[in-house]
Parts: sequence; structure tokens; C-alpha cells
Amino acid sequence: MILQQLNPIACKTYLLKKEDQTDIILIDPVITYVPDYINMMEENGWKLTYVIDTHTHADHISGGRLLKDLTGCDYVMHEKAPAQCVTMRISNGSEMELNGIKVKFYETFGHTMDSVSLVVGDALLTGDALFLDEGGAARDDLPGGSPAEHWKTLQFYKTLSEKLVVFPAHDYHERKPSSLKIQKESNPHLKVKSETEFIHYLDSMQLGAAEWMKDVLKANYKCAREGDAAWIPKDNKACEIKGQSKNEEEGMLVPHITANELIEKQKQGDSSFFLLDVREPVELREELGHIEGITNIPLGSLPIRIHELDAKKEQPILVVCRSGARAEVAAGFMRKNGFNKVQVLKGGMLEYRRIR
Ligand SMILES: [Fe+2]
Repeated sequence: MILQQLNPIACKTYLLKKEDQTDIILIDPVITYVPDYINMMEENGWKLTYVIDTHTHADHISGGRLLKDLTGCDYVMHEKAPAQCVTMRISNGSEMELNGIKVKFYETFGHTMDSVSLVVGDALLTGDALFLDEGGAARDDLPGGSPAEHWKTLQFYKTLSEKLVVFPAHDYHERKPSSLKIQKESNPHLKVKSETEFIHYLDSMQLGAAEWMKDVLKANYKCAREGDAAWIPKDNKACEIKGQSKNEEEGMLVPHITANELIEKQKQGDSSFFLLDVREPVELREELGHIEGITNIPLGSLPIRIHELDAKKEQPILVVCRSGARAEVAAGFMRKNGFNKVQVLKGGMLEYRRIR
């Protein structure tokens, strides 16, 4: 069995697969990295069959909904998860074979009321219910959080085999996964002696305001499929995902042009942009229509059809979709594949039609 962490940031996404199989599972995918996950699958000939969120996330937009839409995989969460796009719901003690891999789910509430931990072989994937070492665990003060439930969860972890190795959904200091035995000695959350002491311990943390996290929660409740569905601060230590287009200095900017700017260019007969619409073909025939002469490659087909655009690599490309969200994902994917002059139509066809 292969269990591999994928993201270069503090938000961890795990790939789970059998060595000799091509079907894969992704656990806690982050929407910004969906193009990377798709690229990885394409390169390796892998097929995504399940995406699992350990809980409703408050510090990044989940990639679960978008991956489900793009690949047709099942989206697995706890039965109490508010997201309606979940296709497979599990409860405490659910044991299932996913792609031939035995996965056991346990309710580990506290950080949220839909948190689960997974036991897979010798691995214990704890989501945010338990981090590594002095990282403790995630906060309990957001909607759905409960220190009392978290206390119960921590006591539950103490009943599991000490040999299990903890793989959390976050780590901010490049800590290495280690056993529950080591965590009992090094993790302050597991060292607290009583529930009262635990609640005092949480109170002493002074975590500060988290208003933006409530918006992220809401976006995930609604199964957002856009990376900018909620604003996420740039200096967010919790997770380095940005709510806006990323910074050029970081090499990941996806510049926007507005519908007004595009219309102005069209009026001036400026045809320097190659226009790419990443909606489904049927959408181009619907009410919003499409920009005349535009090339249509749906987002889901982009990984296998991107070579059709090879001749355009040095040309400015404007990516268009309904609202700008799919275009953002497509543009990010294209930039990773050497299309350095790609831009996104801000607000998509909705905004374009509102003006024109
Ligand atoms: Fe979380």
C-alpha cells in the first residue's frame, strides 16, 4: 500500500493506493492543487475512484466537489457532513474495502461535528483532530466545534494501538509522522489529565478571530468548486491557500482581465488573444452563449487535450467559463504546463453578458 503526502504546503493531502493498482484515493484534497492531482493521474495512468474529506475544512476550499465533477469519483464524508455533494456517507466504525484497501472510519468530533479519523494498515489519518508533537490539534471554537467532544476524541485515541502512525491533515513545521506512543509523550493535547484541565488549556491559547474561517466553512458546506469561493488571508499560517489570484513573485499568478477590457479590445479589433472556453459544450449553446470564434475545451478534458494548444504557448490566452472559477483552475493548470501568458476573464460569461 502506498500512502503519500502530495501538497507543498501546510495543508496535507494524502494519496492512497495499492502498489499494483491504478485506482487511487485522495484524502483531504485542496482545490488549488486539483490541476496538479489531475496531472499526476494523467502522467501515471491512474484513476481517482474516491475522494475523502476528514471533515468540513475551515482554512481552505476542499477539492472534493471539483474532483467529483471532473472524474466521477465517489465523495466520502461523515453522515453529518452538511455538504450535499457527498455521495458516500460513513458513520462511526464503518469499515469498507476501497480499491481493495481496508479502511476503518472513526468519529473523532471536537474540531468539527463531522470529523473522522481513518485507520489504514498501520496508519492513523487524524484530520485536524490530532496534529503532531507540540502542534497539538486544531481549534474547537468554530461553528460545530466542541471542546467536550474533542476531549472524548483524545481519550479514544489513547485506546488505539500505540503502533499506529499519525498522519494529520496539517503540519506547519515539517514534523515527521510518528507513532501514537510517541504522540502520547510529545503532544500536549494527549497529556492533559482531565476534561476541565483540557478546557482551561484551550482557553489559554487565545487563538484570535477567525471570521474568515466561517466563510470558508460555509463555502465548503455549499460544495464550492471555485478556489475564490471565500476570502482566505494571504498570511494565513493555517494554510497557504489564497482566496485571490496568486502572486506573480510566487510564480503562480493568474492575471485577470475584466469584461469591460475584453469588450474594449474587441471594439478595437484587437485579436492578439487566443480565446479558450473551458465550459461544457452544451453550455456554449445555452442562454449565455459564447464569444464568436472561441475554442472550446472543457476543463475536464484539458489534461488530455492540452497538447492541442502547444502552438499557442507563447501567445496570450484568455480563458473563459461561466463565472471565472473553472477558468481559474484551467489557467493554473496551463501555467504549470508552460503556458505563461494565460489570463482569466474575471466574472466569466455572466459578467460579459451583463455588460454586453
Ligand atoms: Fe480543519
